[in-house]
Amino acid sequence: MTPIPVFGAAAVEAAVPPERAVEVVREAFLAYARGEWTMPPKVYVPAYPAGDFRAMPALGGGHALLKWVTSFPGNPAVGLPTVTGLVLLSDASNGMPQAVLDAGAVTALRTGAAAVLAAESLGREDAGVAGVIGAGVNGRAVARTFVARGRAVMVWDVDAGRAEETAAEVGARVAESRENALATDLVATVTPGHEIIIGPGSLRAGQHVSLMGADGPGKAEIAVEELGRVRVFCDDWEQASHNGELVHAAEAGAIGRADVTQLGDVLAGSASGRESPDDITVFDSTGLAIQDLAIALEAYGRFEAGELTEAPTIEL
Ligand SMILES: NC(=O)c1ccc[n+]([C@@H]2O[C@H](COP(=O)([O-])OP(=O)(O)OC[C@H]3O[C@@H](n4cnc5c(N)ncnc54)[C@H](O)[C@@H]3O)[C@@H](O)[C@H]2O)c1
Repeated sequence: MTPIPVFGAAAVEAAVPPERAVEVVREAFLAYARGEWTMPPKVYVPAYPAGDFRAMPALGGGHALLKWVTSFPGNPAVGLPTVTGLVLLSDASNGMPQAVLDAGAVTALRTGAAAVLAAESLGREDAGVAGVIGAGVNGRAVARTFVARGRAVMVWDVDAGRAEETAAEVGARVAESRENALATDLVATVTPGHEIIIGPGSLRAGQHVSLMGADGPGKAEIAVEELGRVRVFCDDWEQASHNGELVHAAEAGAIGRADVTQLGDVLAGSASGRESPDDITVFDSTGLAIQDLAIALEAYGRFEAGELTEAPTIEL
């Protein structure tokens, strides 16, 4: 049996810097938009009120992937991460397992990449500072990715200590208030989705928001009324209209499929993105397995090329 590398969080981070994550996640959105990569719907396995599990498969580039990942919002209070689990990568020509990766690290990298990719693709060309609301594990990844792309970032969190830690770690600054962070050109919300962050009428002409936190049932970061007032984009309509931010607006009849554009279609040039400097653009991310596949393939490729020594191997 060929030895299988196991990428812990540090090995994933060493293998895929944030700026490279943006590039490979962009390619994944394009491959998915072209129908070359496929992704059966994410399966939620509720274990409420504690949290939920998600099984996320994808196929592309000659490989198959399964991410078994969680969202347990109360975990940080007992010193455990909200998001954790494993990613399995297999050879799609013979089914053989090829790599095991830490799902938290893969998720953070590709979530940061998607938030920034959407902001760069849909935000105004002259956009300045980015504001990240929610400075937990994935908010930190979003802030880190913005910084890696050369952007000035301010972060805000209900937990001031968390905001300070994140700002110091990634090279951002702490916003004076939530309102200051919300007034930036490129906003990213990465909260647990228990509270509406973007209220009715709060966004101004020209702003972009990447809504990253509300990726499952019962969560929302934007008011339904505000979604009806802006140009709405998402990662994948099927997934986002059933389990993301848009489900509330879709159920209320406020928006339908024709009102929402998938990011991959904008990147591929088959749909328009921002049409005017005054457009308000909003990107709803639920997190796609094809994004995870992009990160896993990049890490595995570097291991195969002998460029990484951090990953121990196992034999089954
Ligand atoms: N879209 C995606 O692809 C994707 C990927 C990963 C995680 N998520 C979701 O993002 C959310 C955050 O995940 P995480 O792993 O960063 O969690 P986390 O627990 O590490 O961080 C959440 C942070 O939000 C802060 N917060 C809570 N309420 C807030 C509020 N009202 N305003 C500002 N900050 C607030 C908390 O203090 C904490 O620092 C979860 O809902 C998770 O399911 C989405």
